[in-house]
Amino acid sequence: MTTLIIRKPDDWHLHLRDGAMLEAVLPHTAAHFARAIVMPNLVPPIVTAAQAAAYRERIMAALPERLDFNPLMTLYLTEETDAADVEAGFRNGLVVAVKLYPAGATTNSQSGVREIERVYPVLERMAAIGMPLCIHGEVTNPEIDIFDREAVFIETVLDPLRKRIPGLRVVMEHVTTRDGVDYVRSQDKDMAATITTHHLMINRNAILAGGIRPHYYCLPVAKREVHRLALRDAAVSGDARFFLGTDSAPHTDPLKENACGCAGIFSAPNTLACLAHVFEEENALDRLEAFVSLNGPGFYRLPPNESRIRLERRNEPVGFPTKIETGDGPVTVFDPMVSLHWNVTVEAG
Ligand code: DOR
Ligand code: ZN
Repeated sequence: MTTLIIRKPDDWHLHLRDGAMLEAVLPHTAAHFARAIVMPNLVPPIVTAAQAAAYRERIMAALPERLDFNPLMTLYLTEETDAADVEAGFRNGLVVAVKLYPAGATTNSQSGVREIERVYPVLERMAAIGMPLCIHGEVTNPEIDIFDREAVFIETVLDPLRKRIPGLRVVMEHVTTRDGVDYVRSQDKDMAATITTHHLMINRNAILAGGIRPHYYCLPVAKREVHRLALRDAAVSGDARFFLGTDSAPHTDPLKENACGCAGIFSAPNTLACLAHVFEEENALDRLEAFVSLNGPGFYRLPPNESRIRLERRNEPVGFPTKIETGDGPVTVFDPMVSLHWNVTVEAG
């Protein structure tokens, strides 16, 4: 198969930032994706429906006119979040999901949740109205090894939460372990997971073997090969509970190439070419559409996109810039360490 025409994809986990960075990165996602779940971890975070409405307007103002793109907004859950505000934002269609960051787990998560019991009233309201909760699934306890933080989160936080509020619709964001994949498979249809492009392509050697490579550092951190293989198996399986969330997360090079570098991999420009490569390697190109364009809308109870994209396999490698320029400085693009052969265009009409 050298040409594939599929429904236009959506990105169910994306960082667009704000200001000059938003302006520079948004066109890369909007070129190929119809919608994206926009993460609320700005400084300060997007906590209220009114803040989400204002942020959405800034995104729309930064969107080049020729591009058609619908940002799906999320709220950053804090221990002070008002359940009535969450419900009102969801009912008027502005807010699609709430994001739970354990405090201290990742970039700009310091206003996140310290004691999950404190947000149970909001989560119970969300369960009652069918509103999804997106979870950064890592414990922050300094005694827990960083490579174990996802597995420990599942056992000590996620599973108890699912038992306490069984009707809550949960997305385990950027799942990185076999434990996570197995857990989702063991649950009902109200438990789903997003998988990033980079976690399908790299394991922890990319970060640490032969020199430290900060542009492969993200959170949750990439794990051993056995976990990458489990993620691949889930992504190409067609199982409706697994779908794409790129977690494309731009930071400028000086902030990445630093004695204490930021977590985040910017993959928006080449993410679909990478995914076609992965699905081709797995002999699963016929299931790429489910992963990038069908399973996500299914979980979020939205119609799949009507427009189409075309993926063409070229004999010659397709080039991508190694960096993009932004008003805040250069941002390095994810380097998958293999040559990419898939060219992506949007179908007319
Ligand atoms: O690598 C990451 N970068 N993981 C996250 O959870 C946050 C993100 C960011 O905002 O940069
Ligand atoms: Zn993220």
